[in-house]
Amino acid sequence: MPTDPQRPTPIPVIIDCDTGIDDALALLLAVRHPRLDLRAVTCVAGNTDVDGVVRNTLTVLEQAGAPGIPVARGAERPLIEAVRTARHVHGHDGMGDLGLPAPARTPVDTDAVSLLRREILASPRPVTLIPTAPATNIALLLRTHPEVTRNIERIVFMGGAVATGNATPVAEFNVWHDPEAAAILLTAGVPITMYGLDVFERVVVPGADVRRLRASTDPGTRLAGALLTHRGPATDEADPGGGLGDAGAVCAVIDPAGLTTHRLPVEVVLSPGPARGQTLVDRRARPGESELHGDAREQPLVDVALEVDVERYVALYLDAVEGI
Ligand code: RIB
Ligand code: CA
Repeated sequence: MPTDPQRPTPIPVIIDCDTGIDDALALLLAVRHPRLDLRAVTCVAGNTDVDGVVRNTLTVLEQAGAPGIPVARGAERPLIEAVRTARHVHGHDGMGDLGLPAPARTPVDTDAVSLLRREILASPRPVTLIPTAPATNIALLLRTHPEVTRNIERIVFMGGAVATGNATPVAEFNVWHDPEAAAILLTAGVPITMYGLDVFERVVVPGADVRRLRASTDPGTRLAGALLTHRGPATDEADPGGGLGDAGAVCAVIDPAGLTTHRLPVEVVLSPGPARGQTLVDRRARPGESELHGDAREQPLVDVALEVDVERYVALYLDAVEGI
C-alpha cells in the first residue's frame, strides 16, 4: 500500500511503564499522537506496586479513549533489590491520589514478557520500545527471548543521568531501582537512546497551559491537566507549571530532531555503596591513564540525550493531547 508522504506510516511502539503520574502523561501522548501505533503496554513495579501499576495503566487508557490496547502484568520486584517505591512523589496509589475510577477492564491473561515477545515478533515493522520504568521486564525479555532483537528498531528509555541523580546524588530512580536490569538493557545489541534526567527535568508545561488542560471537557485532556498540576517542578516559582517527565521520551520517538544526543560509552555502577545505580557516561575525548595502564573496559555505546528543545516538545504534547 503506497504511503502518503504527508502521513507516514505510524511507528509501532510498546511502552513498559510503572504508572506513575508521568508514565500516565506518556501513555496519553502515545495513544493520541498520529505518528505512533501503540501496540501494547507492559507493567512493572517501580513508582508503586505492580498491581497498582496495572490498575493505573488500565484506567489511563480508558480515560484516553483507548481501552482496547493490551496491558500485561510483569515483574513485581527487581532482579536483585527489593521493591522501593516512589509513593512520596506519585502518591499512595501511584497516580497522585486523584481518586480516579477503577478500570472496567482487566489485564491480558499472559505475563508482560510473553506479551512483549508476541507483539514484537508479530509486528510487520520493527518495534520501538519505550521503557519509562525500572528495566526488570526488559531484562527478563532479553534473557528469555533474545531473538526479539531482530525486530526491535530502537530502545528509547527514560533512565539514568549524566550529571545529577534523584534517587541518590548520582543515580536516577529507574536505574537505581534495578541496576542489573539497566545494565542488561544497555547491552541489548540494538540502537539505544538514553533519555536521562539531564533533559527529563527540563521539559515543563507552563502553568497557563496546565490550567487550560484542566478546564477541558475531554476526560483524557482533563486528566493530563490534573497530572501536570501534581508534577510541579521542584522550584519556588509562583506558577511552576508541570513537568512532562516520561512523556518526553515519547516525544523523542515522535520527533527525534528535538533532542541532541551524543553516542557515548555508558556503564551502570553495580557495586554496593553510594554510587550503585549511577550511569557512568564517558564524555572524555580520549582514553585516560586508567586505560593506558591496562584498565580498558569496553562499554556499550548509547545515544545519550544532552540537550532538548523544550518549547518544541511542549507544543508537540499539547497539540496531540488537546487535539488542536
Ligand atoms: O526518575 C524518574 C523516573 O522514575 C520516571 O520514570 C518516574 O515515573 C519514575 O519511574
Ligand atoms: Ca516511570
